[in-house]
Amino acid sequence: MYIYKAAVIGAGTMGAGIAQVITYSGLPVILRDVTQEAVDKGLATVRKIYQGRVDKGKMTATELEQKMALVSGATDDTGFSDVDIVIEAIYEDLEAKQKLFQTLEKVCPEGCIFASNTSSLPISAIASATQKPEKVIGMHFFNPAPVMKLVEVVPGLGTSEETIDDIVLFSESLRKIPIRVQECAGFLVNRLLMPYLNEAAIALQEGAASAKEIDAALVKLGMPMGPLTLFDMVGIDVSVKVADILHDAYGTRATAARILRELDQADRHGLKNGAGFYDYADEKKGDLESLIQKIQAEGAKKTEFSSNRIIMPMINEAVISLQEGVASAKDIDIAMMAGTGFPQDKGGPLHYADQIGLDVVLSELESLCEKLGDRFWPAPMLKRMVQGGYLGKKSGKGFFQY
Ligand code: CAA
Repeated sequence: MYIYKAAVIGAGTMGAGIAQVITYSGLPVILRDVTQEAVDKGLATVRKIYQGRVDKGKMTATELEQKMALVSGATDDTGFSDVDIVIEAIYEDLEAKQKLFQTLEKVCPEGCIFASNTSSLPISAIASATQKPEKVIGMHFFNPAPVMKLVEVVPGLGTSEETIDDIVLFSESLRKIPIRVQECAGFLVNRLLMPYLNEAAIALQEGAASAKEIDAALVKLGMPMGPLTLFDMVGIDVSVKVADILHDAYGTRATAARILRELDQADRHGLKNGAGFYDYADEKKGDLESLIQKIQAEGAKKTEFSSNRIIMPMINEAVISLQEGVASAKDIDIAMMAGTGFPQDKGGPLHYADQIGLDVVLSELESLCEKLGDRFWPAPMLKRMVQGGYLGKKSGKGFFQY
């Protein structure tokens, strides 16, 4: 099915970013939210993204207006009778998403695809409330949507192959890299990213290093930004929700760092409201140090910092996801590079593990397990590979052949 017109529901950072991506590819899009104020804010965000390109000389002011003419704001169902795809990017609430698709099914054409940009809610559960689960799918963009190349394509239990193919082709027409991922909590990228981000937060609350030191160490390793800066960009409130969903699915290895909840309760939601792990506005909302001291006074033990402590949980979760068949080794690596900027020269977490040596990764995880706890428990597949002589590059075979 060719997509001629799209609608995006939710005009926040992600919704507006997705609308910009769609108009950039030349397609018309409706950007809908509940209030006119929210719609106007979303349209202003789209304009700002284009203005950035004009300022850099990558686009003319006339081209900007041509692109802006492709996006129309709405607070109701007007214009939905001929949309081919609806992408929802509203807040993470299962019932709200179910109700939204139920209502839209009544006004959208018969063949319309209902895609959810949810980070972690089950697509099958969203689809279960609709008349046509075969038309419901996860289409997960990454923040900032105009820049990050990845789209996770997540079929639910009832999604048809035709809908999957349509979303793959549509994503490619948006100049994105679609990776098909098996439905599971956090899908692929958040499932791998969160243990890495969370460990950075745990290291901080345990006084292992300062926020700046932790971020600098990971940037030195080649990550495009430090984990705590990334938390602030994604949003602490959003991250707490994702962390809770992961904990619910994967148990204690995914327990959210206490500092995340403290920041959330202190209304430090990250970049968007002026404060998170870092301060971005003149007006202060308490301070990070006192939250850390509170956690330490209540018993958090002092631990040591190393970059391995932060990166190993991502590698381990990559192996667990591979062993569960969430995606192939190649797709896992592509997704992490395209969705999070994992350094290209390391080739993704599994190529990186092959470079380090799987025996070294295993012994590092075992040592972290002993020092810091069972959340570092090595993936069974990793042990099997080491026992079988699959040591990575040095033995000619690991997750990949050399
Ligand atoms: N909107 C639009 N464009 C943006 C942007 C934004 N918010 N931020 C940066 N850009 C553009 C810039 O204009 C620039 O464009 P040009 O190349 O055309 O000049 C380009 O992106 C690079 O930006 P910068 O040079 O300013 O900065 P950078 O090189 O440091 O890159 C970054 C910024 C792309 C954000 C990079 O730091 C990065 O990749 N960070 C990791 C982001 C990440 O991991 N995202 C996933 C988060 S998890 C998630 O989103 C899932 C979820 O469900 C919660």
